[in-house]
Amino acid sequence: MRNRHRKAGDELRVSVTRSDAAAADEFTVPRIRPMMVLDALLAIQRTHDPAIGFRYSCRVGMCGTCTVRVDGRSVLACQTEIPERAEHIRIDPLAGLPVVRDLVVDTAPFWQAWKSITPYLVPDEDAAGMDATPAVIKPDSAERERIDPSLDCIGCAACFSSCGIASARRDFIGPAALNRAMVLVADSRDTAAAHRLDVVATDSGVDRCHYIYGCSAACPKGLDPAQAIRRLRKWRFDESR
Ligand code: FES
Repeated sequence: MRNRHRKAGDELRVSVTRSDAAAADEFTVPRIRPMMVLDALLAIQRTHDPAIGFRYSCRVGMCGTCTVRVDGRSVLACQTEIPERAEHIRIDPLAGLPVVRDLVVDTAPFWQAWKSITPYLVPDEDAAGMDATPAVIKPDSAERERIDPSLDCIGCAACFSSCGIASARRDFIGPAALNRAMVLVADSRDTAAAHRLDVVATDSGVDRCHYIYGCSAACPKGLDPAQAIRRLRKWRFDESR
């Protein structure tokens, strides 16, 4: 474990977007090293303003609840280290989602888009009898190679916030839901691929993407939603996967 040390007089200034225009929005907190963005928010809550609104749960990059924008980049607060030389950072709520309070956003539009692509495996009911052997995708198959690198989405909405189309609320399903759609369409055990391909071919689907790659750059799990969108565009017309 690294040593969380602090030099005498070492401080960090943090600007935070607040919902209440009368609330303090600039704070000075003691610097520790390493210091995550979430450490700075907790220090503000502890020593300056217990009412400041932000969200977190697991603190290990798994739950996806702590996403904020730091100096314009959408990141997980619990996993993003404040640069060694930084004297000031700015923290804003995610873009494209309604603000509930301070840094807390309402993620309902993100999850509505997720729901629209039927985000779960739809098995073949006829083939799934009690005695049926569970269908598996072989570990060394091309299908597995396509699916595995796209599986670890934690629903943090960093991609959604980083996408110029989704974050501007321009009626776009968005990168996370399209990535999930690609995973399921690629899965030979699923029977709802045709329905999903219809959904992603609508005006809210893959053709809204301008391939700026902000989604892929922002994903804290290293997923590549832009590549997933490219595949879905192809698979609309070509059933060979
Ligand atoms: S607190 Fe769970 S991902 Fe950051």
